[in-house]
Amino acid sequence: MTFRIAPSILSADFARLGEEVRAVAAAGADLIHFDVMDNHYVPNLTVGPLVCAALRPHVKIPLDVHLMVQPVDRLIPDFARAGADIITFHPEASHHVDRTIALIKEQGCKAGLVLNPATPVSYLDHTLEKLDLVLLMSVNPGFGGQQFIASVLPKIAEVRRRIAATGKPIWLEVDGGVKADNIADIARAGADTFVAGSAIFGARDYAAVIRQMRERLAVL
Ligand code: DX5
Ligand code: ZN
Repeated sequence: MTFRIAPSILSADFARLGEEVRAVAAAGADLIHFDVMDNHYVPNLTVGPLVCAALRPHVKIPLDVHLMVQPVDRLIPDFARAGADIITFHPEASHHVDRTIALIKEQGCKAGLVLNPATPVSYLDHTLEKLDLVLLMSVNPGFGGQQFIASVLPKIAEVRRRIAATGKPIWLEVDGGVKADNIADIARAGADTFVAGSAIFGARDYAAVIRQMRERLAVL
């Protein structure tokens, strides 16, 4: 199993974002998780394609754009042009989920669905085979620094079973409250890709936290 660590810029210093993404890349991050919030789908407001494009030249690792916006489609070509490698969206925020997935792929990006803690996995019934990844929220989206919701663990296991049944290398990413202390439990449930905002950017030494997370994963 390949594990990936995706620091979320939501907890970075927004006044020094270029430096911050370079620092986590140098500290061993596999992806940069880029949280887009619109004060409509979620009660918070962050950054858009302009900031994505500004960050793109600072790192070589993939940009994992998590859209917490409604409507979704209008922004997809903009983020693709801005250098996004992965684009994920919340299916309840799109009227035509299959069309949105196709649009992301047409734009040359990897596509993923994001399921909130209370969003049923049945959203994967007619979509999973078309996806490059599934992102399971382990907090309600909108803010960094929230507590991991443990009832998501069996849901991770269920989605892992569904992915295994497809025989495809679909990633299973988990977002919210991920720390060195719980990363092994989350991996054991079936996740392979871990978003961590406050756990990494809230620490003085980014490399030390990422190393600690990898150590906890290495013994599984
Ligand atoms: C929450 C965001 C997360 C957030 C996670 O809506 O999607 O990516 O940054 O932050 P932590 O790791 O602090 O829970
Ligand atoms: Zn996120």
